[in-house]
Amino acid sequence: MAHSIVIFGASGDLTKRKLIPALFRLYQKGKLPPATRIIGVSRRKYSDERWRELLLETTRQFLGDRFDAEVWPAFVGQVHYVPGDVNQVDDFFSLEARLQEIEDDAADRVYYLATSPALYAAAASNLAAAGMAHESTAKRRIVIEKPFGTDLKSARDLNAHVHGVFAEKQVYRIDHYLGKETVQNLMVLRFANSIFEPIWNRDYIDHVQITVAESVTVEGRGGYYEQSGVLRDMFQNHLLQLLMITAMEAPVRFEADMVRDEKVKVLRAIRSLSGADFASDTVRGQYADYRRADGVNPASENATFAALKLHIDNWRWNGVPFYLRSGKAMSCRTTQIVIQFRQPPVMMFSASPEPNKLVIQIQPAEGIQIHFQTKTPDAGMRPRNAELDYRFQRAVRGALPDAYQRLLMDALGGDASLFARSDEVELAWGIVDPILAAWSSPAAPPLEMYDVGCWGPESSTRWMRDQGREWFDVCPVLH
Ligand code: BG6
Repeated sequence: MAHSIVIFGASGDLTKRKLIPALFRLYQKGKLPPATRIIGVSRRKYSDERWRELLLETTRQFLGDRFDAEVWPAFVGQVHYVPGDVNQVDDFFSLEARLQEIEDDAADRVYYLATSPALYAAAASNLAAAGMAHESTAKRRIVIEKPFGTDLKSARDLNAHVHGVFAEKQVYRIDHYLGKETVQNLMVLRFANSIFEPIWNRDYIDHVQITVAESVTVEGRGGYYEQSGVLRDMFQNHLLQLLMITAMEAPVRFEADMVRDEKVKVLRAIRSLSGADFASDTVRGQYADYRRADGVNPASENATFAALKLHIDNWRWNGVPFYLRSGKAMSCRTTQIVIQFRQPPVMMFSASPEPNKLVIQIQPAEGIQIHFQTKTPDAGMRPRNAELDYRFQRAVRGALPDAYQRLLMDALGGDASLFARSDEVELAWGIVDPILAAWSSPAAPPLEMYDVGCWGPESSTRWMRDQGREWFDVCPVLH
């Protein structure tokens, strides 16, 4: 069966930065199924030719030396453009007619909503109204970008709306973190090895840290960020996804619903915060100068940094805190998961050794390190820190593929394992919403300011120390 990918929001940033470069890379590698047509839709009145010219420029820019000019003409021959307004049902009828001309035969279709989130509901309804959601032998799938709602209520409304016209198995909610090779590798590390799983529990693990630090500020996105803040922008989706994959039980098989059933169980087991917990178990911060960014209220109380302590009340994790933190304008860009093990039960040697750690570097220095103790040579029995360091960069040639390549391939192939299910999204909002509410009430911890280029507010460091723990504040070494 041939395939069509119909991208709504074709003139937007995501299309040019991520989707077209990812599709072109797949084509270059011979991975895109033959006879895959790419159809861009937006309100601009481009011709096929004009859109192709624009894409040549942007794809070359975003792929740099991975752009292959010789392959481009064949790829772009499969790329088309249809002007259309997502709010106008008539435009969908014209789109359907044009698609039928482009697809000489029946084709499976992926409708990719890369538009403003305000248009998701209209796009779904109008696809259905024009008969474009209905599946016969050819499949119809809809990919919905983040953010999926802005709170539990809006996410439920959007789910209800989408389910009114598409069955859940047709819906692919994107969280690009799930497309990252190193996030998927976390499942391979856990479930394709036998040495980690026996110690992956409360008997051996003291706590888990999940950090997504960004060195960038909000840059040109102040207006959006004022509405979202770090909890909506990073925690409801990316950090909770990382937590689910770190904490989940092994699925029976690697199949979409089996994987997602296990992830959802983790969210269900997260203890709700209430009353004084919001002040004791959360830290919120804002970087200096945030209030001067374009689109930001000069008296904004919006958090650009957050740290949370969450408990998972199940047999595996009871008593093991999961510390999650993320922020803009931090020391460096690093996404890492630190599994910190308990100290040995008896300290036999003079110096008190650092506890063992398994550090999973999601990006940018993708790899895994084990921190352990060895004897300091010629110094009695004094232990010292040592590290086993596995780097993808050294083991595989070339850069790891961008997350969108895997996600686009999976959407085309009908594999939803790496996409969020409706209950997953709603449960995640159910965790974030009460924190958002508490943060705008007297129960809120103080909003702490931090300088650009550090690990968040001082209070975050103190908060960990007061619990007898230390953040793993280490920037990745890039070589
Ligand atoms: C996006 C957020 O979802 O993820 C951005 O909206 C953030 O604010 C980005 O910068 C981080 O993604 P990555 O892949 O660069 O870690």
